[in-house]
Amino acid sequence: MNCIGVLTSGGDAPGMNPCVRAVVRTAMAHHLHVKAVRHGFEGVMHCNFEDMHARDVGGIIQRGGTILQTARCKEFYTVEGQELGVKNLRYGGIDALVVIGGDGTMHGAMALHRLGYPVVGVPASIDNDIWGTSMAIGVDTALNTIVEAIDKLRDTASSHKRAFLVETMGRHCGYLALMGGVIGGAEIVLLPEVETHPDEVVECIAEGYARGKTHAIIVVAEGAKYNATALSKYIEEKSNFQTRVTILGHIQRGGSPTAFDRLLAARMGVRAVDALLKGNNGKMVGLHGRDISLVPLEEVTSKQREINMEYVEMVRMLAK
Ligand code: F6P
Repeated sequence: MNCIGVLTSGGDAPGMNPCVRAVVRTAMAHHLHVKAVRHGFEGVMHCNFEDMHARDVGGIIQRGGTILQTARCKEFYTVEGQELGVKNLRYGGIDALVVIGGDGTMHGAMALHRLGYPVVGVPASIDNDIWGTSMAIGVDTALNTIVEAIDKLRDTASSHKRAFLVETMGRHCGYLALMGGVIGGAEIVLLPEVETHPDEVVECIAEGYARGKTHAIIVVAEGAKYNATALSKYIEEKSNFQTRVTILGHIQRGGSPTAFDRLLAARMGVRAVDALLKGNNGKMVGLHGRDISLVPLEEVTSKQREINMEYVEMVRMLAK
């Protein structure tokens, strides 16, 4: 193996840049050439490859987003696209690849592995919906953004005795909403994984006010059955509570990676290159307890990560 490639794919996540830096510099420490693949798998399709040197990843450790840029590539979902991808990578002199991204990216990595191409995945997605790691790169930064927003919203909520509905990202996974609820001190969280009737939310707000609370914070995952806007309408129709909606949206994906995310990114990037050097292909690096270890991509792409239901009750209990 003379040259490895590195790409970021799917939704960007804070910490992708320090991970790219770790991959490039670890590879260089082992006297490997490194090529960047621009725009994720789209770059694989169009041979968008560029040589990388140590200085190319200078000054990016603190930057959000990804300097390699990213994309969601439909073409790469097809077997023809994947076969063309392997051909292009080989033609471009890239002997093995580190792919950094979310759930969809790991499926892309698995496709390359199935075609016999050496690949290692690094989980990076604010959603934390990837099986095989307790934390993905970017989750901690997103949670810090969420908690900062909730803290600010509580100031205005309690000044006006209002109920605030805060909508978080996460696609079909309620992790961000659930953890945001715990650390933001929400009254209740609404998740895709748990069906909650809107009357339960009205009741919860009423009970809180009856106990002397001056605000209510309701965290709603974007994938929940009722979104924040629908829920707000329902509450105002059924009660005399004043509500306001804040959809946090893409601000959750931006910003400088936290210390936790930078450390995770460095450890995972180093480990990914180490795995390729040892011929440990077809794996994803994952955080298990305090350790970074390898999980087969086959498992990652065939299993569904579940959220810990204990936290749902914890939110309600601690809001008392
Ligand atoms: O996967 C990350 C994520 O931010 C999800 O939480 C969200 O549903 C989706 O990406 C939004 O995608 P896009 O940026 O393409 O609108």
